[in-house]
Amino acid sequence: MRKVLFAVLMFLVATPLAFGADAPKPTAAEKEAATAEKKIEKAEAKTEKKDAKMEKKDAKMMASGKSLYDRLGGKDAIKAVVDEFVANVAGDARINKFFAKTDIPAFKGKLVDQICQASGGPCTYTGKNMKDAHKGMGVSGADFGALVEDLVKALDKFKVGKTEKDELLSVLGPMQSDIVEKK
Ligand code: HEM
Repeated sequence: MRKVLFAVLMFLVATPLAFGADAPKPTAAEKEAATAEKKIEKAEAKTEKKDAKMEKKDAKMMASGKSLYDRLGGKDAIKAVVDEFVANVAGDARINKFFAKTDIPAFKGKLVDQICQASGGPCTYTGKNMKDAHKGMGVSGADFGALVEDLVKALDKFKVGKTEKDELLSVLGPMQSDIVEKK
């Protein structure tokens, strides 16, 4: 009996040593798990960063107690920016061909409602969603950039503050993936 116990003990001690000396390589599944874990960690870090950004934005909002719509100056100010913006687009040889057949007053009205609603104002945008509105136009990333430049020019003309400008652009920026169809 003692001999058997001794043998079992020796086996238990020797086994990890034997394996330890030649540690097994991680299996494909283990590698995959590690990669997935890294991905999750990265995503979490990104979310945390986003949360911090949102908190900062909320803090700003609370400090002023005003929505972006109010800080932009309300509907009249948005109308003035949209007028200037569309005039810039009309004079922009890079992209004005897209608007050759556009009913400009109707387009401006939709833009005003869209910006008013997106900035927290008392409007309801009733136009098409961005994907349907731009389907088949073949808008490129460069076209999108040109239009944003025209908008920034208009915002700068009316001396819209950097905070408000950045906030508005961060509302419109995510629409890019629905609007741009080619590189
Ligand atoms: C964040 C960027 C953009 C926003 C917020 C935006 C917004 C809009 C809105 C609200 C409409 C009206 C939708 C409707 O008729 O119901 C529209 C239509 C249109 N957009 Fe955009 N757009 C953007 C980018 C662009 C770009 C980059 C181009 C081309 C360079 C473009 C070209 C057009 C054209 C040609 C129309 C159709 C106008 C028509 O009815 O003839 N848009 N857009």
